[in-house]
Amino acid sequence: MIKIGIIGCGFIGTQICSAIDSGAVPAEIFGIFDFSEAKADDVLKLLKNGQPKKCTPEEMIESCDLIVECASQDAVLKYALPAAENGVDLMILSVGAFQNPDFYQKVKGAAASNGSKIYIPSGAIAGTDGLKAAAAAGIFSVSVTTRKPLSGLLGSPYLAENKIDLSDLKEPTLIFEGTAAAAVAGFPKNVNVCATISLCGIGFEKTEVRIIADPTISKNIHELEVYGDFGHMKMTIENSPSPKNPKTSYLAALSAVSTLKKITDPIQIGV
Ligand SMILES: NC(=O)c1ccc[n+]([C@@H]2O[C@H](COP(=O)([O-])OP(=O)(O)OC[C@H]3O[C@@H](n4cnc5c(N)ncnc54)[C@H](O)[C@@H]3O)[C@@H](O)[C@H]2O)c1
Repeated sequence: MIKIGIIGCGFIGTQICSAIDSGAVPAEIFGIFDFSEAKADDVLKLLKNGQPKKCTPEEMIESCDLIVECASQDAVLKYALPAAENGVDLMILSVGAFQNPDFYQKVKGAAASNGSKIYIPSGAIAGTDGLKAAAAAGIFSVSVTTRKPLSGLLGSPYLAENKIDLSDLKEPTLIFEGTAAAAVAGFPKNVNVCATISLCGIGFEKTEVRIIADPTISKNIHELEVYGDFGHMKMTIENSPSPKNPKTSYLAALSAVSTLKKITDPIQIGV
């Protein structure tokens, strides 16, 4: 059984730990880490089979086969490179950290040189399989329109920097239009899907993003539109936000669990 370390004990980390604890993912939790001790303790209280320990990311890098990052872009920037350099596999949820091309290439290079793999789940979006296949030929454009309820956007640095106040919003309003690079920098906890789509397709600078704050909806809605040699793809997904963290869609946690199943399962379907 592979030994997994989990960095981040919020909504996604808890779902992953529960999936391993229930046996749905055949793996052993080596240890968990969160800079909030209380969050880590909450996860430990939930687990029924076996009691993983709280440990540091450094201990995980020494002893784990795979580290799952489900914490923040900061955690990726801090731990991804040393893990890859030590030959440890990684699963990354805070994908926006890879918006920096130098950092992305460094982590990729370290993984290639040291025999580790970096897994990026499809997360809160669908259509990544088609987009990756399409990218084998020419792609003319990729655009993502993200529509979120106000609770899914509050606290984003872009809102503070541009003095955008959402509190009195009564109708859907376009609050951002630009590259995926600018979107993940301005909304680091809200639009990881744009980062994943950029990595699958034509990159952070060419992927176009629109973000709409919509006080009339309760779902996180993403529309992906791609034109290329393959033809035209249009996909809409309406995600239920997690009850614990309105910025995160439930599907993101399910996708992380599904990726872990793929990693640990001898049969690979729909790859
Ligand atoms: N790829 C996707 O499609 C997708 C979708 C949703 C969320 N996400 C991202 O996944 C991550 C986890 O999401 P979540 O809903 O579980 O978030 P959450 O806020 O519920 O939990 C994150 C946890 O990580 C901890 N944490 C943050 N930075 C840390 C650090 N540097 N070291 C240790 N602990 C740290 C926090 O204390 C918190 O307990 C977030 O970065 C989120 O933006 C990705």
